[in-house]
Amino acid sequence: MTDLTTLEAELSAQVAAAPDVAALEALRVAALGKSGSISGLLKTLGSMSPDERREAGPAINGLRDRVAAALAERKAALEAAELDARLAAETLDLTLPAPPRRKGSVHPTMQVMDEMTAIFAEMGFQVAEGPDIETDFNNFTALNFPEKHPAREMHDTFFFKPGADGERKLLRTHTSPVQVRAMQRTNEKPAAPWIATAIEPPIRIIVPGRTYRCDSDATHSPMFHQMEGLVIDKGIHMGHLKWTLETFIARFFEVEGVVSRFRPHHFPFTEPSAEMDIGCDRSGGEIKIGTGSDWLEILGCGMVHPNVLRFCGIDPDVYQGFAFGLGIDRLGMLKYGMPDLRDMFEGDTRWLGHYGFSAFAAPNPATGLS
Ligand code: PHE
Repeated sequence: MTDLTTLEAELSAQVAAAPDVAALEALRVAALGKSGSISGLLKTLGSMSPDERREAGPAINGLRDRVAAALAERKAALEAAELDARLAAETLDLTLPAPPRRKGSVHPTMQVMDEMTAIFAEMGFQVAEGPDIETDFNNFTALNFPEKHPAREMHDTFFFKPGADGERKLLRTHTSPVQVRAMQRTNEKPAAPWIATAIEPPIRIIVPGRTYRCDSDATHSPMFHQMEGLVIDKGIHMGHLKWTLETFIARFFEVEGVVSRFRPHHFPFTEPSAEMDIGCDRSGGEIKIGTGSDWLEILGCGMVHPNVLRFCGIDPDVYQGFAFGLGIDRLGMLKYGMPDLRDMFEGDTRWLGHYGFSAFAAPNPATGLS
């Protein structure tokens, strides 16, 4: 019994002297923890005779309860003292102005991508996507680029080292491989849920995304953004292509009418192929769309080559289609007057603050795009 009295006196003194919450916690573990002194005493009850236990049980349990209560009381006191000390030390000058909040903005490329998507969505197009790392087959072969043909080099492609199977992957040089993914009838599961596969004709898709070419100057960046368009249906002809693009351009630049011309061009995956120029005015030092007598080249397009349809398991005698590829960043530069494409990807927050858009201004053709 005197043991218990001594232990209690010792513990009470230690609890009273504990300088902070951490020291108190160490004391609690030493007394009441799994191998603590009081827990040890409680364990001895099991080996006592009933008579001994009748006396020792209440004594040890009482000790445990009193020590636990003392610990809790001291803890509350220490915490209150710590709070008092903090309140006394910390001051807040409510008369000072609040520090300015840095506000993010929507990157012009993303804004333009949304504007373009809103316009095409209203025309009935759906968005399809594909991976940035492509197979040579999807980027070139299925798009009717002849094997070993210089056209493959024309794209200044970033190739990866060939894999164990000899296959040479690449960073897609255009968004056209997603045409192949959307049209191809395969049993293969796409590698990710957002990757387009086997859309049944009629197909009306746009494909916004990143593209890569080994090229860098004021109007070229090794990474840039394109938007592919693809329409596959019965009886599709170039008139549909022309209407779609002219309507898009007029809405995008928010001008009444657009004059356009189609210059013959060559793409392996379209026949006939064309580059589309739109009428503009450069006289005031800046480019104005919708007036004037100058021309500005803005995109490549054409009727989908029968070989591409065949590669993808679509009968070219039944279905026809058109495709186009637009440079998203370039359209943004034209619309919002940004002189150098490379600035768009420098990540300079001053540039972003100047050219960026509010996140709440979601483009909507009905209420205004920008
Ligand atoms: N893929 C072509 C390019 O990047 C653009 C294009 C797309 C041309 C679709 C015709 C049809 O140069």
